[in-house]
Amino acid sequence: MKVNAIKIAPSILAADFAHLAEEIQTAESAGADYIHVDVMDGHFVPNITIGPPVVHCLRRVTNLPLDVHLMIADPVKYIPAFAEAGADILTVHVENNPHLHCVLQSIRDLGVRPAVTLNPATPAATISEVLKDIEMVLVMTVNPGFGGQAFIESTMGKVAQIRAMLDAVGSQADIEVDGGIDSQTAERVAAAGANVLVAGTSIFQAPEGIEAAIKALREAAQRGQRKTRGL
Ligand code: DX5
Ligand code: ZN
Repeated sequence: MKVNAIKIAPSILAADFAHLAEEIQTAESAGADYIHVDVMDGHFVPNITIGPPVVHCLRRVTNLPLDVHLMIADPVKYIPAFAEAGADILTVHVENNPHLHCVLQSIRDLGVRPAVTLNPATPAATISEVLKDIEMVLVMTVNPGFGGQAFIESTMGKVAQIRAMLDAVGSQADIEVDGGIDSQTAERVAAAGANVLVAGTSIFQAPEGIEAAIKALREAAQRGQRKTRGL
């Protein structure tokens, strides 16, 4: 079975919003694979961040795919606006999407890569019927809302479980993890089957600098993959 390449997705939530373009360009030159954009509305999660106008501006300052994580109460209402603004990947939560299959199709119909995400308390089985409709599963490794939280250990088993579910249906979808990812946790989640690593604090606040932080995360994750995925 082909093993998915490790991708690093810096989360701009931990960047300096007054210098967002420079922060993103630094991450791009340092080898980032995606730019992770956390959209929060103060309803689905207890924090407010940014919306389509900011995504539209970010589109002009980077060539990297914009990985847009929607933590909002009514995603269906805003999906077209984020697609129009330039999102390349749109990730919706299982918890607030009773018509998940339909929502994922509507994302694909807009020419955007559909992805689905699960909060720490949401079981893997909730996505069993949409495995062939997604290009990525995001396993939240903290409760969404804020950067800088500690990695929740119990999510590790879910990563392995979802990789096994994807393998069983012959899907090469990526597994992304988000929250508390640093070079220690990166190695372990990659060993469990994750290959896209979102990191905010450990990249944008890294004392060693953005470039060294991205390199360390990628190397740690590659070590993890070698342990279990036969690379
Ligand atoms: C949390 C967000 C994350 C957050 C990760 O709700 O989805 O993307 O920025 O931040 P760190 O890497 O600092 O845990
Ligand atoms: Zn996120």
